[in-house]
Order: sequence, then C-alpha cells, then structure tokens
Amino acid sequence: MAATDAFTERYLSGDQLWGDDFTHQQIEEWFADEREAYADLEGDQAAEKEYSYNGLNWQNGYRSLPPGRFTHALGVGSAFGGEFSPVLNRIDEITILESSTQLRSKDLLGTPLRYVDPSPTGVMPFPSGSFDLIVCFGVLHHIANVTKIVHEMGRVAKAGGWVAIREPVVSMGDWRSGSRPGLTKRERGIPRELFEDALRDAGFSIKSSVFCCMPLSQRIGRLIGRNMYASKLGAAVDRSLSIATAWNYRYHAVTPWQKLRPSSVFIVAQRQ
Ligand SMILES: C[S@@+](CC[C@H](N)C(=O)[O-])C[C@H]1O[C@@H](n2cnc3c(N)ncnc32)[C@H](O)[C@@H]1O
Repeated sequence: MAATDAFTERYLSGDQLWGDDFTHQQIEEWFADEREAYADLEGDQAAEKEYSYNGLNWQNGYRSLPPGRFTHALGVGSAFGGEFSPVLNRIDEITILESSTQLRSKDLLGTPLRYVDPSPTGVMPFPSGSFDLIVCFGVLHHIANVTKIVHEMGRVAKAGGWVAIREPVVSMGDWRSGSRPGLTKRERGIPRELFEDALRDAGFSIKSSVFCCMPLSQRIGRLIGRNMYASKLGAAVDRSLSIATAWNYRYHAVTPWQKLRPSSVFIVAQRQ
C-alpha cells in the first residue's frame, strides 16, 4: 500500500490524531510554529477586536454549568480573556495559560488576568486540584500532544470542578498540502470520539457534548451582516443547523456535500 494511503487510513479517517504520537523533538517544532501563529494571523487589530463568540459559548456550554461561584478559573489559550465575560461575575481569580506574548491583557473589565507560559511538554506548572473551572475554546487543535494536555487538565482540576471546552472536530483540510488560507500552519481538528475518550480517561464525566459551528451559519451571518456566534439567537440558529446535519458528520470531507456538517463540538464535563 502507498505511504499516502496509510496516512489517510490512519489520520484522515479520524482513527488517530496527527501529532498526538509525536516525538519530543517534533512536539517542540510544532509548538514553536504555533506559539505566535494565531496572533500573527490576526495581525495588529487583534487587541481591538471585540470577543465575538459569547452567544455560542453561552448557548452550548456556559448555561449548562451549575449555579454558584468559582474560586479559581484556568483559561487555556484564552488570549485577552474575553471568553470569560459571561461568567466573569461568578469568578474570584483567573489564570491564563497562553503561548502568545501579544495576546495578553492586564485585566478583563477590572478583574486581573495572570498569564503563565505553557511548556511544549504539556505539563502545566500548577499543583494538582488547583482550579474549579477550566475553559478552553479553540486551542487544543493548535497543539500536537492533545492527550497530554487533556490529562493535565484532569490533574489540575479540583474534584467536582468543571471544564467547558470547544474544539473543531473536522480535519480542516489536508494539512500536508502546504498553506491553507486563513489557517495556521499546524492547526487540525480533533476527531470527536478520540476527544471525548481523552476527557473520560483524564477523569472527567461528560455532562453535555453538542455539535456546533455548522458552516452555513457563518454564510447566513455574512448575508445578513451579523456575527451569528455573538448572539444567543444566532447561536440557536447554528445549533439547529448543527442538529439537522449531524448525521453527515465525518472527520475529513472531500466534496462540498460532505462539508455540510457541524465542524465543532462543545463539551461541559465535571472532574470526578
Ligand atoms: C484560535 S485562538 C482562540 C483564542 C480564544 N480562546 C478564543 O476563543 O478566541 C487559539 C489560542 O491558543 C493559543 N495557543 C496556541 N498554542 C498554545 C499552547 N501550546 N498553549 C496555550 N495556548 C496556545 C494562541 O496563542 C491563541 O490565543
């Protein structure tokens, strides 16, 4: 069998995650490529941009969290921290593990943000059981050693603590093909089953796992001049489109028809 066929069978099929089985040296190279890649893609305007996924995050995740306060929240790849806004008034302290030195802010609406540099190994520099809320939106697909990071999330989460996490679960194209417009060099989605298994293996009990980010939602948004993911209504439309096309979910799509499926999953889980 040709080498490309073996690659397709192993990785583009969604059976295994590209990068997760890399050597230390390969992980270092990937980490260096992605450290500032998103900041560079966004350019100088990144700091001025309003965070535009609050409707999506509320509809599919935050509203499933239990009521009450969180003493210490960890944001993995949270950049300027805007993703915390819907629950900001319920959090005492925020720490952000962020690779980019450009995507940082002193505070979020008066709440101080403490930044910590991640390590390519995936080991998080925090004692076990440090956080009662972990938030990670659109970050793990930029990282090679996903299973290791998810395992670390399980370690640093307090027993009974919560994780809210959203990631692409589609390949995002054939990442061997060189540059993919609008994407960083290494990013690739995480097959849904592998992702959920990694969370369970890390000690999380999944309370809710829903598809979102159906590509037609953003097309509709462009037509009507709205950001569909910023509002609860837009996110509800996206949720309906995601439910309607969930049957067509596959990791790697090669025809336009195959691309008519939800592209991300939003999971809320509790540490056992
Ligand atoms: C697509 S952006 C998402 C940012 C934010 N969570 C949001 O929803 O807008 C990916 C983020 O992950 C960060 N990142 C990339 N590699 C990382 C790593 N190894 N550890 C932590 N953050 C990382 C990037 O700098 C960027 O802020």
